[in-house]
Amino acid sequence: MTSLRMRIAVLLILSIAAVVGLATLAAMLALQPPSQDGNLQATISEIRTLMKVASLDRQTVADVGVQVDPKPASGQLDNGESEHLTNAARVAGLDTDIRVTPGPQSLEVTASIRLPDGRWLVTVLPSNRPPPGGAYVFAGWIFLILIGSAVVSLFAATKITMPLRIIDNAVSSVGPNGELGLVPEIGPAEVRATAQALNRLSRHLKVAIESRMRLVAAAGHDLRTPMTRMRLRAEFITDDEERSKWLSDLNELDQIADSAISLVREEVNQDTLEAVSLDLLIREIVTSVQQAGYAAETGLLKRATVRAGPIALRRALTNLIVNAATHGDGARVSVTANGMSAIVTVEDDGPGIPEDLMVHVFEPFFRVDAARRKTFPGAGLGMAIAREIIARFSGTVELTNRRPNGLLQTIIVPLAI
Ligand SMILES: Nc1ncnc2c1ncn2[C@@H]1O[C@H](COP(=O)(O)OP(=O)(O)OP(=O)(O)O)[C@@H](O)[C@H]1O
Ligand SMILES: [Mg+2]
Repeated sequence: MTSLRMRIAVLLILSIAAVVGLATLAAMLALQPPSQDGNLQATISEIRTLMKVASLDRQTVADVGVQVDPKPASGQLDNGESEHLTNAARVAGLDTDIRVTPGPQSLEVTASIRLPDGRWLVTVLPSNRPPPGGAYVFAGWIFLILIGSAVVSLFAATKITMPLRIIDNAVSSVGPNGELGLVPEIGPAEVRATAQALNRLSRHLKVAIESRMRLVAAAGHDLRTPMTRMRLRAEFITDDEERSKWLSDLNELDQIADSAISLVREEVNQDTLEAVSLDLLIREIVTSVQQAGYAAETGLLKRATVRAGPIALRRALTNLIVNAATHGDGARVSVTANGMSAIVTVEDDGPGIPEDLMVHVFEPFFRVDAARRKTFPGAGLGMAIAREIIARFSGTVELTNRRPNGLLQTIIVPLAI
């Protein structure tokens, strides 16, 4: 019971149940039922009168529906009630025997009262017992209180926590570019103030991210001019080996600048979404990766259509497949679907990524220690760009090392509806 809504609901249910319980107790104490003793005295005095009249005038008692029989009334004897009435009669000075059997109606009993001549006066009296089914009525009363208070409390708790849920939804819908959706500034004053603060924070964050992006793009762009000059000068280096080292370093710098600019472009440019056949796209990418001279092959390619920007999605998947082909010595790519999502798996038999570095590979410019293996030129931006793009289409990229070696990259994107 961690949610505020449930806590408020339970608190309200307990409060309502306690108030109703106390009010019921107070009402029961204030509105006393007629005393049992008073009823008993009235019954005994009625019996005394009947016995008296019966001893004087049989006809009169017969006229009021009371029979005088040689035997008591038949039926299941209520021992407790019989003893109780007989004792009460004796205390009141009546030397008789009273037998109680069930009456013609549910709240009545038949009393057979022994007369001094040995015959029995059979009459119907009101029952002293509480009406049957009292326990059910009480249980129903408690049940109604609990159900009623639960409904009212849940409704109240939902109403009270509604603004908080709106804020929660807005905050958890942070876009892949870190942008926070506009939080509605409604509800009680405290909630409105929180929403306003979140909206302010979101605006500041947006400005900060945009200026960082502009900086990266400008740096990448401005590097181009001095690099072109350096390339020109490098061409004049006479030592062949030295010249080719300079040119290869300059090429790598070029690639880094390009990737930095394209990362910014991915964050800024948002191409329009359309239905993309993932199986066809993968076949095309693998063919072009093969034509570029890399080792790549397709496995199972099930039909799967997703909603995405085709150019960006192609770039993302190409980055991951090229990684498996270069860093992992060869890529195997399959497409499957599981009802809700399309699943692309990219497998290789390379060295994989050390578990402790796994969390960093999506960071821009991160490259696993190149000294351990043969190196491939690259900026360390391929995976950052790929994840950025796939997250924009509500997808995820997961990496796991394979046994005994290799890397499994799993890309999950919701199927188009
Ligand atoms: N399939 C893989 N097997 C082993 N290591 C990998 C694999 N994929 C990525 N890596 C490691 O993760 C690092 C980051 O990959 P990323 O694609 O971001 O950069 P890159 O390939 O080095 O450069 P580029 O920006 O040209 O793609 C790589 O340098 C590599 O060390
Ligand atoms: Mg790469």
